[in-house]
Amino acid sequence: MRASSLLLCFGIFFHVLLPLTNSKEQQTPKEKLLVVTVATKETDGFRRFMRSAKNFNYTVKVLGRGQKWSGGDYMTAPGGGQKVRLLKAALEAMKDEEKIILFIDSYDVVFASGPKELLKKFQQARHKVVFSSESLIWPDRHLEDKHPHVREGNRFLGSGGFIGYLPNIKEMVADWTGENNESDQLFFTKTYINPEKRKSINITLDNRCRLFQNLHGALDEVVLKFEDGRVRARNVLYDTLPVIIHGNGPTKLQINYLGNYIPKVWTFETGCTVCHEDLRPLTALKESEYPLVMIGIFIQQPTPFVTMFFDRLLKLQYPKNRLKLLIYNQEPHHEQHVSSFLQGHGSLYQDVKVIGPEEEMDGAASRNHGLNMCRQDKDCEYFFSLDIQVVLKNEDTLKIAIEQNLPIIAPMITRAGRLWSNFWGALSAEGYYARSEDYVDIVQGRRLGVWNVPYVSSVFLVKASLLRSELSDYELFNSHILDPDMAFCHNVRNKGVFMYVTNMHTFGRILSTENYQTSHLHNDLWQIFENPVDWEERYIHKNYSHILKGKLMETPCPDVYWFPLFTDIACNHIVEEMEHFGKWSGGGNVDKRIQGGYENVPTIDIHMNQVGYEKEWHKLLLDYIAPITEKMYPGYYTKAQFELAFVVRYKPDEQPYLRPHHDASTFTINIALNEVGLDYQGGGCRFLRYNCSVQAPRKGWALMHPGRLTHYHEGLPTTAGVRYIAVSFVDP
Ligand SMILES: *[C@@H]1O[C@H](CO)[C@@H](O)[C@H](O)[C@H]1NC(C)=O
Ligand SMILES: *[C@@H]1O[C@H](CO)[C@@H](O)[C@H](O)[C@H]1NC(C)=O
Ligand SMILES: *[C@@H]1O[C@H](CO)[C@@H](O)[C@H](O)[C@H]1NC(C)=O
Ligand SMILES: *[C@@H]1O[C@H](CO)[C@@H](O)[C@H](O)[C@H]1NC(C)=O
Ligand SMILES: *[C@@H]1O[C@H](CO)[C@@H](O)[C@H](O)[C@H]1NC(C)=O
Repeated sequence: MRASSLLLCFGIFFHVLLPLTNSKEQQTPKEKLLVVTVATKETDGFRRFMRSAKNFNYTVKVLGRGQKWSGGDYMTAPGGGQKVRLLKAALEAMKDEEKIILFIDSYDVVFASGPKELLKKFQQARHKVVFSSESLIWPDRHLEDKHPHVREGNRFLGSGGFIGYLPNIKEMVADWTGENNESDQLFFTKTYINPEKRKSINITLDNRCRLFQNLHGALDEVVLKFEDGRVRARNVLYDTLPVIIHGNGPTKLQINYLGNYIPKVWTFETGCTVCHEDLRPLTALKESEYPLVMIGIFIQQPTPFVTMFFDRLLKLQYPKNRLKLLIYNQEPHHEQHVSSFLQGHGSLYQDVKVIGPEEEMDGAASRNHGLNMCRQDKDCEYFFSLDIQVVLKNEDTLKIAIEQNLPIIAPMITRAGRLWSNFWGALSAEGYYARSEDYVDIVQGRRLGVWNVPYVSSVFLVKASLLRSELSDYELFNSHILDPDMAFCHNVRNKGVFMYVTNMHTFGRILSTENYQTSHLHNDLWQIFENPVDWEERYIHKNYSHILKGKLMETPCPDVYWFPLFTDIACNHIVEEMEHFGKWSGGGNVDKRIQGGYENVPTIDIHMNQVGYEKEWHKLLLDYIAPITEKMYPGYYTKAQFELAFVVRYKPDEQPYLRPHHDASTFTINIALNEVGLDYQGGGCRFLRYNCSVQAPRKGWALMHPGRLTHYHEGLPTTAGVRYIAVSFVDP
């Protein structure tokens, strides 16, 4: 009883399963499939193709290796006859009638799925030869009427991919007698539109892109489809998942984009799967074995924080005797920075060359020249192009870039707090910036990887071997219409060389060079608006951030707070800027600079607005002082407006002290700008009501105290040297 009811169950189960597995059709074994492609060169695109083929265990036969390509290119006249000739010759040697040949391009093709699915779909097409289809007719529009009508899908043939049984394909190419530069597309089209041949060879088109997706004319139809641990392209018009994706014609950038994901280059589950493949590790090398790198440094506009750029260059982790520097400087303003860096450290490097403003070399020429110096230097293995406005925070950047072992790679840098970066994810029709769908995720680090992109700039590494082969044209940066950086990328793309950007690590940022004025002694001081992050790094005390966390705040007298604010460099720059300006007030009661023209308790000073620094000072008070007052004086919210902000100079023989007074402020900020014991003796501040003094002012530290009523105070005498303080009356 039991046994038979079990059998019954099985029987029912079986019947349900049968139609689903489609077992009426016999699956062709995968061994019968051979992928044939023509690749005269191992381009980056070819390597991408082979990687995707290997991923699915396709067996690939490559024809034409090492031969000169004379089949034309897609930008100019139709060509490709060479492919048919090579195919014809290769098939002649093959005998197995059951063999199934997949003939496809490779430089601009990736596999999205494996042989099993491909063969299944081929069989479902119920023809002996299946061609990829296109919505656009090419190269001869007059043949349109001769094409059979189709109920749904693309009506025209694409020669970049077809699959079929060996005998049928042999038959199809048997008639080929054309030249290498004649059109394969036209040849196959004529075969297909000939009703007798179409029938005898048994050809059909993959109208709905079940096997082949040609991207030309179909960009709007194709989207990435992420599924568990793998990525495909979906044709949303026909609701199909093509097995082979082909960036035919002018869709090379789109296949590059799709190829960043398909078949599982990057997935949500795994992240980047190829970023640790084919590396060139440096760790095991002795210093003397490191590849020789030429660093081209380009200074093409006045740029803030140049001294810090050179400090970082010095800290770049790489044996300096394996580096050659080429510094191209177009700005007289920066000659002092270049020469002081070279005087201090130039001899550490294997070689240093400077092209100064006097040589009047333009930007494109200097960049061509840089690449060429590396190209012609037989020891040069890499050219590292580095623009002066790049802030490389990651000291290992150069090593990381080399280890990634790619033709051209740019470490991703961004402008602090913006979506601006040194790469483009896509190009507009005119060749300018366009945002790719993944751009924001890459810039903001939600997708980490190494990305094939159409444009990089500002900082990138190029393999010198490429400069001596594909990129041997001397004038890569030249163009009649494009900027040099765009011209370079345009030329690189046209040579079929891939450019990558990596965001696998944090590398740094890029400065804004807009609104940088060079009229002051220390122009960086004025950068608090334009480049606030770099400004803070240079000028705000390293321990400032701890005070807000409640540490390091001192209270030397009641309601008087004392905390680190400025770096030594900030103090020096402010003092030097004031001395450079030089118009110290006379210290009399009559003062035309202030409202009312009368100063009750005059000092020898210079007001911030006299050196054009009041906006910047207000920003400093807002960003760095207001948060502290709000913490220390709860309930008090300041707009950080100030009546007066000035630098005071105390000198024994000029004005050594200030008599007791109230400040015309809600609270006062008093920042010591130099060092007691070193720069001067004495000094300090005494609050009379509490008989409390702050007598050893610390350089860069700010005293904050209420201005009126309670905090009647005096400036204690400076007995030797010169003492400087920066004072602000904040109200309210
Ligand atoms: C490819 O072949 C290897 C070993 O021959 C096997 O481990 C792997 O699973 C195969 N991959 C696919 C997608 O069939
Ligand atoms: C194709 O090549 C042949 C010789 O190989 C040449 O005579 C002919 O001009 C070429 N045609 C085109 C369109 O380049
Ligand atoms: C093509 O071949 C299939 C069998 O593989 C056959 O059913 C079909 O009729 C053929 N088509 C033509 C147009 O000969
Ligand atoms: C920051 O504070 C720590 C701990 O008080 C101190 O050791 C260090 O020297 C300070 N750093 C600077 C730059 O003053
Ligand atoms: C103020 O303090 C000093 C020492 O800190 C002391 O010598 C002096 O007598 C005090 N003055 C008054 C008025 O309390």
